[in-house]
Amino acid sequence: MLSKKWFVNSYNAIKVDDRVNEFFKERFWLASLYHENSKYYPDVFYKQMPLRPYSIPEEDIKQSYYEEYEIPSFEELNDKNTFVHVLKNRRSSWDFEGEEISFKELCKLLQYSSGITEVKKITNNNHSFLINKRTYPSGGALYAIEIYIYIQKVKGLKSGLYLFSPQHNKLVLIKREKDITTPLNSIGISTDEERNPIVSEDSFEKASAVFMLSANFKHQTDKYGLRAYRLALMESGHIAQNIMLVSTFLQKKSIPFTGFYDDRANLFLGLDGVSEVVLCMIPVG
Ligand SMILES: Cc1cc2nc3c(=O)[nH]c(=O)nc-3n(C[C@H](O)[C@H](O)[C@H](O)COP(=O)(O)O)c2cc1C
Repeated sequence: MLSKKWFVNSYNAIKVDDRVNEFFKERFWLASLYHENSKYYPDVFYKQMPLRPYSIPEEDIKQSYYEEYEIPSFEELNDKNTFVHVLKNRRSSWDFEGEEISFKELCKLLQYSSGITEVKKITNNNHSFLINKRTYPSGGALYAIEIYIYIQKVKGLKSGLYLFSPQHNKLVLIKREKDITTPLNSIGISTDEERNPIVSEDSFEKASAVFMLSANFKHQTDKYGLRAYRLALMESGHIAQNIMLVSTFLQKKSIPFTGFYDDRANLFLGLDGVSEVVLCMIPVG
């Protein structure tokens, strides 16, 4: 079985040449090594996540230091503009209004969080090409994260699974509601009926839309090799933060969400779960 070697490919266990050769032979193995071993499964979840006891980082300053400087509070800094207001008011919340949002609000969520803001000409070895830069940073400007949106309550749009293409400025319906066989509420650990009872009760039901960010490791591994997985996680974090800040700007609730069963989430989007995987969800409403 493929997964067996994932446990022996550690730095100490095999020679450097073998690690490198292995990597080139099977492009995704390093990302898969971590990703596969960090998936949540319904039948073993109670063992995968022993919720207590767990450690909490100390808030104190742990190191000795030479000098100290007071940092003024938000109020003392006194920048009364929208940007600072949004930063200050972003909060994770499941307390969605349960109401429809307008198509224009959805467009703002998409465009402001991930749209194209500059077309840049790059010249390299007498070869020129254009890169469409977006509102979020991306390792090598490869934009390897796909932005899926499950739409539940958006005025004028059918419910279903959509994909946003910043490149083409288009939102496309890729799965109609009736074609989706995995119920959304069975994807989240806290909403699954057979869940670990310790986990709190949250629900997607009242969310207007659920952003689902997936990584396609191909392009990042082609360019960055062993570092690709880090870049993918960071890029999805940048997009997620943008979505939450835009939600705050629009006075909507949102929350970053990683407590899902991976196989169900990947199935929901139709991803293979190895070279393409769901990393994060952000319900908004
Ligand atoms: C990577 C990441 C994953 C998270 N996953 C979940 C989750 O699965 N379920 C949940 O209720 N909250 C989740 N949260 C939200 C955190 O609980 C929340 O960010 C934290 O309590 C701090 O609150 P704040 O975001 O309102 O500042 C996640 C946050 C991050 C950054």
